[in-house]
This record gives sequence, C-alpha cells and structure tokens, in this order.
Amino acid sequence: MAYIVAEPCIKCKYTDCVTVCPVDCFHEGANFLVIDPDTCIDCGACIPECPTVAIFAEDDLPEKWKHYVEINKQYTAPWPVITKKKDALPEADQFKTAEGKDADLDPTPGPGD
Ligand code: SF4
Ligand code: F3S
Repeated sequence: MAYIVAEPCIKCKYTDCVTVCPVDCFHEGANFLVIDPDTCIDCGACIPECPTVAIFAEDDLPEKWKHYVEINKQYTAPWPVITKKKDALPEADQFKTAEGKDADLDPTPGPGD
C-alpha cells in the first residue's frame, strides 16, 4: 500500500505535507503533488498536515478518487522531488474546497526544491 494525493490538492499545493515526510516521497507538478508509491513507508505523518484533506491511505481513498492511485504512479518519475515548503498557489484558498478539478491537473513538471 502507499499513501495517495487526490483531487483536493489541484490548484492549491499548500506543500505543508512535504516537510514532514521522513523519506522525501513527494514530487511536484505545476499545480499538484504526487507521492512516490515505491518510497512511501505508510507512516501517515502527511495526512493531518494538508489543509485541503487531499491525502489518503490507498485503502481509504473515496471511490470517486480511485484513479489517483495511477496518477500518483504516473507522475512520480517525470516530476522532481520537493522537500521544502513554498507558498501555496495564488488561487489556493479559492479552490480549497472546489470539486471537479480533475481536468485542471497540469502534467507540466513543477520546479521541485
Ligand atoms: Fe511520506 Fe509518510 Fe506521507 Fe508516505 S505516509 S508520503 S512516507 S509522510
Ligand atoms: Fe497538496 Fe495538501 Fe500537500 S494541498 S501540496 S497535498 S499539503
């Protein structure tokens, strides 16, 4: 199993999660983060850090976000590692509780650390 970042992170990217991960498994896209499923040790430390409640243990992922298992896997290699907190996206507060952001996921790699 691994922990998964799901839709609520899109267009927010608060990055509080990255500072607590003991094994540096977050990777950064332009408007979303993913967790490297092969590196995550299932410690759960990142879950309470996320203001949008975007992170779930794979077994607890809501049905509507099951496809994020594949999405996290898919973008781990092309996106760089992020371990340092940075400013959230400018529109973060506006989109924190918005649904229907799936199509807004930008495949462009983020800058990383
Ligand atoms: Fe990192 Fe632990 Fe979160 Fe996995 S569950 S991404 S190891 S903080
Ligand atoms: Fe995204 Fe939440 Fe981390 S919004 S960047 S998963 S703190």
